[in-house]
Amino acid sequence: MDKQGGESRRIILHDPADFEGMRRAGRLAAECLDMIAAHVRPGVSTGELDRILHEFMLAHDAVPATLGYRGYTKSSCISINHVVCHGIPGERVLAEGDILNIDVTPLLDGWYGDTSRMFVAGEPSTKARLLMDVTYEAMMRGIAAAKPGNTFGDIGHAIQSYAERHRFSIVRDFCGHGIGRTFHAPPNVLHFGRPGEGPELKPGMFFTIEPMVNAGRAEVKILDDGWTAVTRDRSLSAQFEHMVGITETGCEIFTLSPAGLHKPPYA
Ligand code: MF3
Ligand code: CO
Ligand code: CO
Repeated sequence: MDKQGGESRRIILHDPADFEGMRRAGRLAAECLDMIAAHVRPGVSTGELDRILHEFMLAHDAVPATLGYRGYTKSSCISINHVVCHGIPGERVLAEGDILNIDVTPLLDGWYGDTSRMFVAGEPSTKARLLMDVTYEAMMRGIAAAKPGNTFGDIGHAIQSYAERHRFSIVRDFCGHGIGRTFHAPPNVLHFGRPGEGPELKPGMFFTIEPMVNAGRAEVKILDDGWTAVTRDRSLSAQFEHMVGITETGCEIFTLSPAGLHKPPYA
């Protein structure tokens, strides 16, 4: 990492042509999740879901940005139940009642798409449904705070205060990020914070908002595979992720579901 405050820490302000590139990458990312929804059911393996996503991205002239990223070898991240994020697709077969986050990152014409949603194999428990609903609403409240004149602290505060009001906890170890022609760019977008803190939001900023919310305590640990993050107390965790671009009046969400599959249930 370069020196904080140095040239490379500056937050890029994108122009209208950049918005168009990002719109296309974001739409394809959302379409990946729309497509995979019909495949999520008890009995399917996460490796099979990953293979389907891989083929879909290639068929749409995109490359999965996670392939080969810092040694990661899959085309998606699939995080089940107490897995917080960066679950590696493989042999694991979905069971009735599992909740899972699927996170996809197609690279299309030089622009990175990045979005995730929760899915359910069969029917979730009442607690799991509430956790997913609160996480989705927390993300949307963060997005509502994403407008010129506000700061990144306003976004984090909106997310944290909503989740904690429901006695859930916000994961501190992972954050959203600037995005565009780079996968992970400045700034770090924290999902907690205080109003008025942090950099001011300006038109042309592109970044993700991707809160991870735990039903129990906030602490996480990384498994021996070097990627899989789980809740230390093995409580359920949920996450949603959108990419936004700040406009003159608010923000544009680049990763809205064209099929209207915003949160479970999708059927
Ligand atoms: N998609 C994740 C994000 O939202 C990044 C995954 S990187 C991987 O930033 F290597 F774990 F796949
Ligand atoms: Co992201
Ligand atoms: Co992501």
